[in-house]
Amino acid sequence: MSDQEFVLSTQEWYYPSDEIVNQSHVSDYEAVYTEAAADPQAFWAKRAETLEWYQRWEKVLDESGAPFYKWFVGGKTNIALNALDRHIKTWRKNKLALIWEGEPGDKQTYSYWRLWQEVNKFGNVLRSMGVKKGDRVTIYMGRIPELIIAMLACAKIGAVHSVIYGGFSEHALADRIEDAQSRVLVTCDGAWLRGSIVELKKIADQAVHRSPIVEHVIVVKRTGQDVPMQAGRDFWYHDLMSLPIASPNCETEVMDAEDPLFILYTSGTTGKPKGILHTHGGYQVYTSTTLQYAFDIRDEDRWWCAADPGWITGHSYIVYAPLILGATSFVYEGAPNFPYPNRWWKMIENYGISILYTAPTAIRGLMRFGDAWPKRHNLSSLRLLGSVGEPINPEAWRWYHSIIGGGRCPVIDTWWQTETGGFMITPLPSVGLKPGSATRPFPGVIADVVDDDGNTCAPGVEGKLVIKNPWPGMLRTIYGDPDRMVRQYFSTYARQGWYLAGDSARKDEDGYFWIIGRIDDVIKVSGYRLGTAEVESGLVSHAAVAESAVIGVPDEVRGNVIYAYCLLRAGFQGSDALVDELKDHIRKEVGPIAVPTKIEFVSALPKTRSGKIMRRVLKARAMGLPEGDTSTLEE
Ligand code: PRX
Repeated sequence: MSDQEFVLSTQEWYYPSDEIVNQSHVSDYEAVYTEAAADPQAFWAKRAETLEWYQRWEKVLDESGAPFYKWFVGGKTNIALNALDRHIKTWRKNKLALIWEGEPGDKQTYSYWRLWQEVNKFGNVLRSMGVKKGDRVTIYMGRIPELIIAMLACAKIGAVHSVIYGGFSEHALADRIEDAQSRVLVTCDGAWLRGSIVELKKIADQAVHRSPIVEHVIVVKRTGQDVPMQAGRDFWYHDLMSLPIASPNCETEVMDAEDPLFILYTSGTTGKPKGILHTHGGYQVYTSTTLQYAFDIRDEDRWWCAADPGWITGHSYIVYAPLILGATSFVYEGAPNFPYPNRWWKMIENYGISILYTAPTAIRGLMRFGDAWPKRHNLSSLRLLGSVGEPINPEAWRWYHSIIGGGRCPVIDTWWQTETGGFMITPLPSVGLKPGSATRPFPGVIADVVDDDGNTCAPGVEGKLVIKNPWPGMLRTIYGDPDRMVRQYFSTYARQGWYLAGDSARKDEDGYFWIIGRIDDVIKVSGYRLGTAEVESGLVSHAAVAESAVIGVPDEVRGNVIYAYCLLRAGFQGSDALVDELKDHIRKEVGPIAVPTKIEFVSALPKTRSGKIMRRVLKARAMGLPEGDTSTLEE
C-alpha cells in the first residue's frame, strides 16, 4: 500500500449496527480496554474465574523468571475439563459440539456427550499403549473429527500433542517427530482433497522409517484404499476403539496450570522449525476470552473456522476455544472450490452458519470466480465474518463485507501468531472498522509500533510491532531450546522486556494498527508460514544444487509466492526438466505448500562481502523495483 493509499484507507470507516453493538459481550471497547490496561492481572483473573479449576491459583502472574512467565501459578486444571467434562453435566450434553462434512459430501455430527465419550475412549487407548502424562504424541491427519478427538484425548490424559499439518512431507514430519521424540503417531490412510486421495499413511510410513523412535502407529480409516499395515506397530483406530480397553469413561489427568498442552512447529529464520509450547492454564483462559469477545460467540451460533486444525488457528479456534465456550462448530474436510466454486456458500446456507472465519487468500481465491456463485445462495444466517493469517487488502475486505456479509456483518480482522496463542490485535464487533486494519489491541494487551531504539513511531510511520506486557496465551518456550526463545523474541528490546512479533506495521492517527508484513526470512504463502531457509535447504539437498536463495514475491491471490534462485553444481545444466525435478523434490522434502512458483538458474547470488545472501536485492529485481543501497554488495 503506498503512503497515499494508506492515508485514504485510514479515513474509510464502517460502523456496526446498533443491534450488533447492543448484543455484543463488549459493547464499549474503550471502557473494557482501559480497565484491563490499568490492571491486566485483575482482568485475566476475572476471566479465569469463568472456568473450572481443580484447585484455584495462588498467584495470577509470576514474572520472576521473565521472559519465561508463569500464569495462574499453583492452579490445577485440565483444558479438557473445561472443553468437555463440565459441559456434560449441563444441558449442553445434548448440544452439538461438532458438525462435520467430508469433501465427498458425507456428514457426521457429535453432541458434547458423544464427543466426550469418543475422547474418553481414545484417551484409554492411548493410555493402554503406555502414553503417560508429559509424553509427546504426533498427529498427522486430514481434517476429520478423529483429529480433534485425538488432540482432546491427549490433553485429557496429560500427553502433549504435536499436530503436523497434512500438507507437510515425510521429511518435515520425520524432523518434527524426532524433535518431539514421539513414540506414538496417529494418522489416517488418506485425506480427500479436490476429489483425490492424499496418501497420508504412505507418507507417515516413510517418516517413521526415517525416525524409528515411533513404536506405534494408529491409523484412522478415511479413504479406504489398501494401505500396508506393519504387524505389531500399526493398528487400525476402529479396531482399538472397539476393544474393551476403550471404555467410555476416562479419568481426566489433573494438570498444573503451567504443564504443557501442545507443541506446534512453526517456521523461523533458520531451517530448523521451532516447537512453540503452550500450556493448559493460561491458554484456556486466553483463547476462550478472545473468541468470546471478538466473535461474540453465543449458544445459538454455528461457528465456522475454516482453517486446518494443523495450524494454530485450528488449535485455538476450531478445537479449544469454541468447545470451552460450549459452541457448535462446523468443520469441512476439503477444498473450497470442489466440486464447484459455490461449495462454501452452499454449506453456509445448508448449515445456517452464523460466523465465518477464514484467510484472505481464500477470500481472494473465491472472489476470482465472481459474484454469481455466492449470490445463488441465501447467506442471511451470517452475522459476523473474520479474517486471519496475512494482511487483508481493502479490495478483498470490501468484497467479503458486501457480497458475503450483505453489508451487515462486521469483518473481524484478527492479527496474531502461533506464538501468541490467540488474537492480539483485533476489532470487537462493536468497534468501528477500516478495511485492511486489524484495528486495536485486545483488552489486556499493550501493543505498539516502535523504531530500532524503542521509540513509538509517529502516526503513519512504519516500525516494528511489539507487545509490551505478558499475556496468558503467550508461548512458554521453544521446545528443547529455551535460549532460542529469548534470542528470537526478547533480545531485540531486551532492556524493555518487550516481545518482538517479527512484523512491521504502522499506526494511524486513530491508534489503528496496519500490519505490513514480516521483517524476517519468513514468507506467508496462502497464509501458510514458511521459512526461506527450509525451502533453501530443501533445494540444496538435491544433487544438482550448490546454493540457493528463496524470496517471497507478492501475488494477487496467494499473498506471496515463492521464487527460488539456484546455483548449480559443476556438471549440471539448467533445463525445464530440472525445474520440474526440483519442484518435485521440494514437494517431497518440505511439502506441496513450499513448492516455488518459479525456479531460476543463476551463475551467482547477490551476497554481502561477509557472505550473506541479499534477498532484498533479488526481490527488488524480481519485482522490477530499484535495488536500494547495494554498497555492501560483493562484486
Ligand atoms: O505476519 C503475521 C501474519 O501471520 C504471522 C503469524 O503466522 P502464524 O504463526 O502461522 O499464525 C497465523 C495465524 C494466527 C504474523 O506474524 N498475520 C496473521 N494474522 C494477520 C497477519 N498479518 C496481517 N493481518 C492479520 N490479521
